[in-house]
Amino acid sequence: ATEHTLSIIKPDATKRNLTGKINAKFEDAGLRIVAQKRIQLTKAQAGEFYKVHAERPFYDELCEFMASGPVVVQVLEGDGAIAKNREVMGATNPADADAGTIRAEFSESVGENSVHGSDAPETAREEIAYFFSGLEIVG
Ligand code: CMP
Repeated sequence: ATEHTLSIIKPDATKRNLTGKINAKFEDAGLRIVAQKRIQLTKAQAGEFYKVHAERPFYDELCEFMASGPVVVQVLEGDGAIAKNREVMGATNPADADAGTIRAEFSESVGENSVHGSDAPETAREEIAYFFSGLEIVG
């Protein structure tokens, strides 16, 4: 079925001018970028987005990092888009990511791992709504 998922190109990747190369990976996998904007998050906004991780030891570092530079937030559309995007991203820790995935090719560490993608339909809905109104999503 056609799904939507929320993708974030993180500050480590925008700093290294990798937005186009990462977008090409999505498009080559059959994902369509149906909404996209480059924004700078505050630490508080990053904290709200990642609130499910609030009790994790890396939460403060994660929020600092996500506010440390521009991010590109996107809605990706496609058949099974949530799982497909997770395949294209590769494992959370780039050391474990399969060859050819975004994290294997571009990421430097588990914290600075270049991309985020929603993990399930319910979180995809919530995460898309955090950044986009319906009017901004053009399929
Ligand atoms: P993401 O998919 O955006 O969701 C939560 C993020 O927390 C994850 O990617 C990682 O970037 C980050 N993260 C997970 N584990 C660690 C860790 N051990 N140290 C620092 N950051 C982490």
